[in-house]
Amino acid sequence: MVIVCSRNLGQSKAAATRLKGTTLALEVDITDGSSVETFIKAVLNRYQKIDILINNAGYAYDAKIWNKQIHEGSDEELEKIIEVDLFGSMRLCRAVLPIMMQNSSNMNHGSNIIGGREGGGVIINISSTPAISGRVGGFPYSIAKSGNITLTKCIAKEYSRFGIRAYTLALGNIATPATLDSVTEQIIIKAALGSPMKRWGKASEVASIAASLADDNFSYATGNTIVIDGGTVLI
Ligand SMILES: NC(=O)c1ccc[n+]([C@@H]2O[C@H](COP(=O)([O-])OP(=O)(O)OC[C@H]3O[C@@H](n4cnc5c(N)ncnc54)[C@H](OP(=O)(O)O)[C@@H]3O)[C@@H](O)[C@H]2O)c1
Repeated sequence: MVIVCSRNLGQSKAAATRLKGTTLALEVDITDGSSVETFIKAVLNRYQKIDILINNAGYAYDAKIWNKQIHEGSDEELEKIIEVDLFGSMRLCRAVLPIMMQNSSNMNHGSNIIGGREGGGVIINISSTPAISGRVGGFPYSIAKSGNITLTKCIAKEYSRFGIRAYTLALGNIATPATLDSVTEQIIIKAALGSPMKRWGKASEVASIAASLADDNFSYATGNTIVIDGGTVLI
């Protein structure tokens, strides 16, 4: 079961119908703690547990904020973006971690020094390459997204013993409507040529990596940042 959510139920439903398998569309505003609480309760009422959380929500592109340098920006602009891209992820992690810990205690029949641990869960935080490399412009976004990398690492350190794994996906240029609609044709071409692969990535390529990470194949790796940008930023 995949639960698709955004602030707009219509948008969630439209996205859910494009996925294979069983889906459910729900509404949540991750800037609002009580909305997150209601959302998590709605999920648990139906399914009793949560195995995977993907923190994908991001503040919509706003040229007025994006094109400012650090000395030109305001606290309010920084807060708007951090509220969604960092605090939003944080709120969902805080809500979901105890549920994943419960998965672990339900399954755990004694820790195993060599080998796997059942239960727990997987958290994937969606970040961005400027969080690693820095960038001219868009500093609130880069700062918020770098917080996600640290959030992932702290989850890995604190919750591995509960069988919970966490990863950050640092994305480069991914051809989503939100990104393509906010730039000119010239910028689209320049961005593609700036990458060693000479192209943009597809959302499905990000989804495939997320699905692989959530799979047991990655059972002995956690806290990692995986860069998905056609080879531009190498760590
Ligand atoms: N596309 C790229 O090139 C690229 C590159 C690097 C990183 N990323 C990251 O990848 C993620 C997806 O990006 P995208 O290109 O697919 O952009 P997008 O279409 O704008 O996706 C962002 C999503 O976040 C949701 N959202 C925003 N505020 C929210 C809130 N307060 N509560 C709940 N949901 C909220 C939006 O839904 P509603 O407006 O319906 O609530 C929207 O579905 C973002 O985190 C973005 O920063 C993308």
